Amino acid sequence: MSAPNNSYDPVEVTPLHPDEVARMREEALSAIEAAGDLDELKEVRLAHASDRSPLALANREIGALPPTAKADAGKRVGGARRDVGQALKARQAVLEAERDERVLVEERVDVTLPWDRELRGARHPLTTVAERMTDVFVGMGFEVAEGPEVEAEWFNFDALNFEPDHPARTMQDTFFVESEDSGDSGMVLRTHTSPVQVRALLGRELPVYVVAPGKTFRTDELDATHTPVFHQLEGLVVDRGITLAHLRGAIDSFVGAVFGEGLRTRFRASYFPFTEPSAEVDMECFVCRGDSVGDPDASCRTCSSEGWIEIGGCGVVNPRVLTAAGVDPEVYSGWAFGLGIERTLMFAHGVRDMRDMVEGDIRFSSAFGSEI
Ligand code: PHE
Repeated sequence: MSAPNNSYDPVEVTPLHPDEVARMREEALSAIEAAGDLDELKEVRLAHASDRSPLALANREIGALPPTAKADAGKRVGGARRDVGQALKARQAVLEAERDERVLVEERVDVTLPWDRELRGARHPLTTVAERMTDVFVGMGFEVAEGPEVEAEWFNFDALNFEPDHPARTMQDTFFVESEDSGDSGMVLRTHTSPVQVRALLGRELPVYVVAPGKTFRTDELDATHTPVFHQLEGLVVDRGITLAHLRGAIDSFVGAVFGEGLRTRFRASYFPFTEPSAEVDMECFVCRGDSVGDPDASCRTCSSEGWIEIGGCGVVNPRVLTAAGVDPEVYSGWAFGLGIERTLMFAHGVRDMRDMVEGDIRFSSAFGSEI
């Protein structure tokens, strides 16, 4: 066995010379310090801390040294590499923080700046609710009928069996339309959508299955629960062998589709000149389902703890209306209903104040989304 190569002088291996190692270390550290951003630092890492960096290459030389020199050179090179690694890490942290700071500034959005974009409009929720209500009946095979908002008194009252002096004419607070000479024009702003019943019967072949959504007018002051302009959805069926049972079924389907399946409905006897018998339609309160009734601890805002919500009027078409529209009441029968669209919107979406519906503030409509 030959003697260990004690005379081997590590200093003669240039890369391991202390000055040289110190120079490589200094060079790396100043390059790290000089790296201005993360991309530059990546380059510096490749040049000074990768497998091909001068310090890594120097490290490889250590293996060839005699054992006595190994420890010394190893400490020197290892120390330098550790310093470089720590400096890289520290610089990385500083540059990342700088970048984050810069991104925060560059990508800042001043939400108080006036904007130059056009506001996207939103459909009025009354329109979308009216369409949804109409669609329920269209789905059952009904057609959509229309009539004018400025209506002949004959359609609005006479044909619907309101006698000329019948108190029901004044019961509905009518906007009468003056003629040009300030006399009686025979026209009114329709007080309900029921005149469309007569127009549909006169203008269509029997049988008739129609719904008519539209504006209606009464001389009410605008407040939280009244508006002089409101909307109804009229329904009319005239066919052979039509009974109240069909009406109940249609109303139940409507309530199920708009407010949820399984809600009960009830008819309360009422009076309309154009239907006989007549009824007010109530549906079970979809919030408390009647649980709040008679329970002082459980008050329900939706139904005022009544357990029921009134949604409209209905009844069997009065034979006089059929006759006025030229339909033989001996052969045909039918029923009609009028549902409040504002009421449906109020209940279905928790709108508490009618005025929100008429003020035209886009923020109110937008809250319902911009459904098309
Ligand atoms: N037109 C009635 C109203 O406005 C509602 C109604 C319509 C009642 C159809 C019966 C049949 O109050």
